[in-house]
Amino acid sequence: MDKDIKFLLEKLKDKKYLVVLTGAGVSAESGIPTFRGTDGLWKEFKSEELATPQAFSQNPELVWKWYEHRREIIKKAEPNPAHLAVARLEELFPEFMLITQNIDNLHRKAGNKKIVELHGNIFRYRCSNDGRIFTNLPESDEIPPRCECGGYIRPDVVWFGESLPEDALNVAFQSSSSCDVMFVVGTSALVQPAASLPALAKRNGSFLVEINLEPTPISSIVDKSFFAKAGEILPEIVTKLCDTMSS
Ligand code: OAD
Repeated sequence: MDKDIKFLLEKLKDKKYLVVLTGAGVSAESGIPTFRGTDGLWKEFKSEELATPQAFSQNPELVWKWYEHRREIIKKAEPNPAHLAVARLEELFPEFMLITQNIDNLHRKAGNKKIVELHGNIFRYRCSNDGRIFTNLPESDEIPPRCECGGYIRPDVVWFGESLPEDALNVAFQSSSSCDVMFVVGTSALVQPAASLPALAKRNGSFLVEINLEPTPISSIVDKSFFAKAGEILPEIVTKLCDTMSS
């Protein structure tokens, strides 16, 4: 592994613009189940079956309760060493962008500021009828609660079959096509359009690094893979990067 990190540090020399793309694997070591792993109480449901507008219109209470369950897990979670290492990377590179598919807020909690949340945020809500955004929920005995207009309030996250927020997507495409290096951490690289960002970066000359427990569909195009836990390898890379920068 030392040899691999040394190789990476050589490649990072003189690189100015780092983009980090993260998925659920980066939060796994904080105790948040990944999407394609198994999820205790809710394991009989697949996320693809609950995280859809159709599921919400057919059974809003079920979908609401699934998100409440996830929100409870996330509230108890703290950033892990992988999040902290990504926050440190933002300080080390003159230009930086973090593109995350995660809705758990842990990158912000770890200290990152330049963040694009491609799939929304579980602590924000939106009226499914008039689109009004809520950071606090109105008092209500109903599940889900309703907006003044009568529409059900839903989590402000992206569901399967829905478009991504346009501004976030624009920043993601723009930064991916102009960065010098992209780290792709803890994503199965199966869900579009996030999964296409590494290829976009590569086409524009970026050096691609993947950190994952196992190979993914993008492994064949990356320049360097680390098959390891993000919470172990990222801090090691960052510590060694700091050492080379200060020497
Ligand atoms: P997935 O659950 O699909 O993939 C998690 C990835 O993290 C897998 O490739 C694991 O091998 C890897 N992994 C797990 N633990 C890890 C660790 N400790 N260190 C490094 N890697 C680890 O999650 P995403 O790729 O984020 O979308 O899923 C993408 C999107 O699909 C999600 O944002 C969500 C989901 O449906 C929406 O809800 C719209």
